[in-house]
Amino acid sequence: MKRKNKYVKKKKTGKGLTITLLVTALVGCGLVAILGFNGWDVEKSTQSVQTFFGLSHAPSEQAGSKLDVEDGKTDEQIEKTSGDVTEQGGDAGSERREMTVDAGGYIIDQQLPEEPTYINQVLLANKKYPLPSTFAPGEDPAAREAFDKMAAEAKLSGFNLTAFSTYRSFEYQKTLYDRYVERDGKEAADTYSARPGYSEHQTGLAFDIGEVNFEKHWASSSFGETEAGKWLAANAHRFGFILRYPEGKEDITGYMHESWHYRYVGVEMATDIYNRDITLEEYLDVK
Ligand code: DAL
Ligand code: ZN
Repeated sequence: MKRKNKYVKKKKTGKGLTITLLVTALVGCGLVAILGFNGWDVEKSTQSVQTFFGLSHAPSEQAGSKLDVEDGKTDEQIEKTSGDVTEQGGDAGSERREMTVDAGGYIIDQQLPEEPTYINQVLLANKKYPLPSTFAPGEDPAAREAFDKMAAEAKLSGFNLTAFSTYRSFEYQKTLYDRYVERDGKEAADTYSARPGYSEHQTGLAFDIGEVNFEKHWASSSFGETEAGKWLAANAHRFGFILRYPEGKEDITGYMHESWHYRYVGVEMATDIYNRDITLEEYLDVK
């Protein structure tokens, strides 16, 4: 009985085995064909299979946005660039998209746009949202007025504040950035200086703030430890300024903590951002 059953079972298994072998052979041939077609590149092959089945995340085209990663860049170029990272990025509240960034956090081969990006009417400039090279608004008058008001109040507490760098043109930012790259190397420079076209200073809304007669603390982390720096951190929002690159948010802002760099956004928004302890990127829901 045992033997018979065994035999019958074996017979069934034999048929099944034939089918299994056929299917395996077909799948195998298919895989070899796909791999061969993609130059024996496993990653590329996986992508083509995903694309075939509609599973790939194609970059979304956003009207008025130059951030889509299609800017003339091929997969090959992405693969050839060392230190590149594929990230999920926000698209101003629309669907998430993938983008490949270089070691400095910039989207590879991104072209500067024709127009600046406004999200909910807020002008944004960061490593993912650049400005046209021709964008040259000069220092923002509302930001200057707010700064003067803030400086007047700071004076009552004994702090003589000054804005030692505000609006910077595309060309001037290029001079600065190139100088830092020469001094410290590109990798280090990218942590504290924006590449031309990517600086918030080009918007006219960024104010680097320090204390008169205390130049040694200007553009230095030590400013945050001074009484003036602490007063500013606790009060700037009441005048419409936010600390733009806070400590612990480097991955979001793309820059090291800068205790002196403030951005004018208006009192209401600045107060909200201050109370929620978030960055401008988080407030606008972009990365
Ligand atoms: N230091 C800031 C990041 C700039 O260069 O705009
Ligand atoms: Zn600055």
